[in-house]
Amino acid sequence: MQLITITGGQTLHGRIRPAAAKNSVLPLLAATLLCRTPSRLRAVPPLADVATSLALLQSVGAKAERQGSDLFVAPGQDLQGEIPDYLAGAMRSSVFYLAPLLCRVGEVRLPLPGGCKLGPRPVDIHLAGLAAMGAQVELEGIAVTLRRRGPLHGVDFALRLPSVGATMTLMMAATQAGGTTILRGAACEPEICDLANFLRACGAHITGAGTPVVVIQGGKPLQGTAWTPLPDRIAAATYAAALACAGGEVTVTHCAPAYYAAFLDFLQAAGVDVARQDTTVTLARSPARPLRGGQTLCANAWPAFATDTAPLAAAVLLTADAPSEIYDHLFARRFACAEGFTALGARCCTAGRTLYMDGRAALHGAAVTAPDLRGGAALLLAALGAEGVTLLRDPGHIPRGYADLPGDLRTLGADCITEKT
Ligand code: EPU
Repeated sequence: MQLITITGGQTLHGRIRPAAAKNSVLPLLAATLLCRTPSRLRAVPPLADVATSLALLQSVGAKAERQGSDLFVAPGQDLQGEIPDYLAGAMRSSVFYLAPLLCRVGEVRLPLPGGCKLGPRPVDIHLAGLAAMGAQVELEGIAVTLRRRGPLHGVDFALRLPSVGATMTLMMAATQAGGTTILRGAACEPEICDLANFLRACGAHITGAGTPVVVIQGGKPLQGTAWTPLPDRIAAATYAAALACAGGEVTVTHCAPAYYAAFLDFLQAAGVDVARQDTTVTLARSPARPLRGGQTLCANAWPAFATDTAPLAAAVLLTADAPSEIYDHLFARRFACAEGFTALGARCCTAGRTLYMDGRAALHGAAVTAPDLRGGAALLLAALGAEGVTLLRDPGHIPRGYADLPGDLRTLGADCITEKT
C-alpha cells in the first residue's frame, strides 16, 4: 500500500517526458513469444504491470529480464501454456498471452484476467476470433483453455466491437496462421500500429493497422528485434491535466500532440493555453483564471476522447465555472473516483455511465482511496488544486501505470510525497 501526501496550491513549472506506453509495452512483451530469437524493448519504465509480465514470461519458460532501462526476452524452445492464477489475476494484460502460447505450445490455460474493475470486461471477442481460426475453446469456471490440433488458419472475421485487446490478440494469432486473415471492425488506437510495426519488423506481413480493416498474411517465421515502444499518450495527458488543475506552465516533450489531440482540444476549451509543436506541447494557465465548464464529453474508441483520460478530465472540471458531464461509452464503472472527488469537496454524481459535475467547487484536502489506476491518478491531480493536505491511499493501482507519478509531479514543483505503509 502506498500513502501519497499531497499539499495543494503549488503551481507547476518545467518540462516532462512521458515514458514508453504501458498499453504498448504489455502486448509487445507477449508478442516476443511469437519470435524464434530474442527481442529487446528499449527504455521501458519499471511499472508494476511490467514486473508482472516479466514474471509471467518466466513462468511459461521464457528468459525475461530487465537490463538497465531495457527489457530482454528470449522465448526459448521449451515453453509451456499454464498461466499461474496469481499472475493472470494481477492484470488484464495476461489475456495477451492466449494467442502466442496457443501458437507456440498448442495449448494454453488462462485463469480469467484481472485488472482495473471498470465494469464487465469479457474476453468473448478474443475467443470467438481464435475459435474462427481453428482453436478449440473450453471454458471451465474461472479459466479458459485453448487447444489447436494443427496450425491455425486464416479467417475473414468481423469484431463485434473495436476491442483494442482483441484486435491485438487476433493480429498476433494471424501472423502464425496459414493463409490470409482479414480483421474487420478492428480497433485503430496508436498502440495497435505499434504492435503491427513491431511484428512487421520481426518479419510479419500486416497491412491496414490503424484502420478498421487489417490484413495479415500468416505463416511467416518471426525473428526477434530491438524496438522502442511508443510514448505513453495517457501519461502525457496526465501531466497536461496536472497543469490544468494546479496552474503554471509545463512543456510535455517527446510525445506528438496528435496522440492526445482530443484531450488537448478539451483543455483548450476549458481555457488552458495550449501550444502544439512537432513532438512537444506547452500548456499554461494562471491559477487565478477560472477554468471553463459547460462541457459535454463522450469517451469512446480512437480517435475519440480516450476513456483512460475521462477521470483526468473530470479532475479538471470539478472547479470549472459551470456544470459539465462526461459519458464513457466503453466502461460501465469508469467513474469510481467520484466518491473521492466528493470527499475533496466537489459536487458530482454518477448516473449509469455518466459523471455529472456541478463545477464551482472550492476543493479541500481529505483522506481518499484510489479505486483504480486512472481514477487514482485523477484524485492525485484534483488534490494538487485543493487547499490543504490530501492523504491518498493507493492499494497498488497507480504504480501499475505510472512508475512514480508523485515523483514526476514533484519535478514540476508539486508538493507530494509517497510512503510505503
Ligand atoms: N470487450 C468485450 N469483449 C471482448 C473485449 C472487450 O465486450 O472480448 C469490451 C470491454 O468490456 C469494453 C470494450 O470492449 O467495454 C473496450 O475494451 P477493449 O478490449 O478495447 O479494452 P482492453 O483491451 O481491455 C485497453 C487498455 C485499457 C483501455 C482500453 C480502451 C491495455 C492493457 N488496456 O483495454 O487501458 O482503457 O484498451 O482504450 O491495453 C488503462 O490503461 O488504465 C486501461 C484500462
